[in-house]
Amino acid sequence: MSKLSTKHLLGIKELTADDIHLILSTAESFKEVINRPIKKVPSLRDITIANLFFENSTRTKLSFELAEKRLSADVVNFSSSSSSVKKGETLIDTVNNILAMKVDMVVMRHPNPGAAVFLSKHIDAKIINAGDGAHEHPTQALLDAFSIKEKLGSIRGKKIVIVGDVLHSRVALSNIFCLLKLGAEVMVCGPTTLIPKYISSLGVKVEHNLRKALEWCDVANMLRIQLERQEIKYFPSIREYTMLFGLNKQLLDSLSKKIVIMHPGPINRGVEITSDVADSDQSIILEQVENGVAVRMAVLFLLAGRA
Ligand code: CP
Repeated sequence: MSKLSTKHLLGIKELTADDIHLILSTAESFKEVINRPIKKVPSLRDITIANLFFENSTRTKLSFELAEKRLSADVVNFSSSSSSVKKGETLIDTVNNILAMKVDMVVMRHPNPGAAVFLSKHIDAKIINAGDGAHEHPTQALLDAFSIKEKLGSIRGKKIVIVGDVLHSRVALSNIFCLLKLGAEVMVCGPTTLIPKYISSLGVKVEHNLRKALEWCDVANMLRIQLERQEIKYFPSIREYTMLFGLNKQLLDSLSKKIVIMHPGPINRGVEITSDVADSDQSIILEQVENGVAVRMAVLFLLAGRA
């Protein structure tokens, strides 16, 4: 198989396992490319890509832009905080104005769940969801899967626990879809108030005791508490959250086996994870960031139909 079954990347839910395997194997080739002295290839020459960020981002924005430039695409960047959105322009008007400038692909981050799907129904360009509210963050899940496979050799049969604010996390939902499609076992762990009631219907285990979850897993993906999406208090205090669900070195070293530690970033050091864990030799947090560029190159290349 050399083509994706989909025109857009709106979420992992819409991808087949074959699509995911194709993206991961294409990313392996691009990882070789970006480690060469000459890191640029002409694969997306004459393709114009608009990066539309209606919500803050460090990793995803930089990573997409770097991936596009490594593929020789023409890139335009848009940030809502410095745009006419502030004057009341709608999403469709903003995007139609950008498309009038002959854009082929749109990478969009937006605070509203479903924004990428909405856009895909109204414009002709190919859409890549770079995170839509608490819904999906497909390229994060793909780079996480790539990083697990790189570290452990395979994903099938591996046990992955996602710890923390699952309720508000697009990373959690995309990871659950992706890892289950690839044959992993998935558990979520956190306070009852931050674990959605429907979650076990997706086929994941639920555990509220962090030590038990860590003893079960091969990989722990530690999520950030998303205070910006919380309108009410979901736990008494950050201090109590950290005591019950924060990962520190003493807990990590007391486990019966060496597990792999992941975090999608941005990290709240000292809250969900301490610095000595984030920076330990069990952490692959910076490998995740490095792999993000290769994975996004693969997604852009495959959706552009240049395979
Ligand atoms: N992981 C992630 O999406 O980070 P940013 O919000 O910085 O893009």
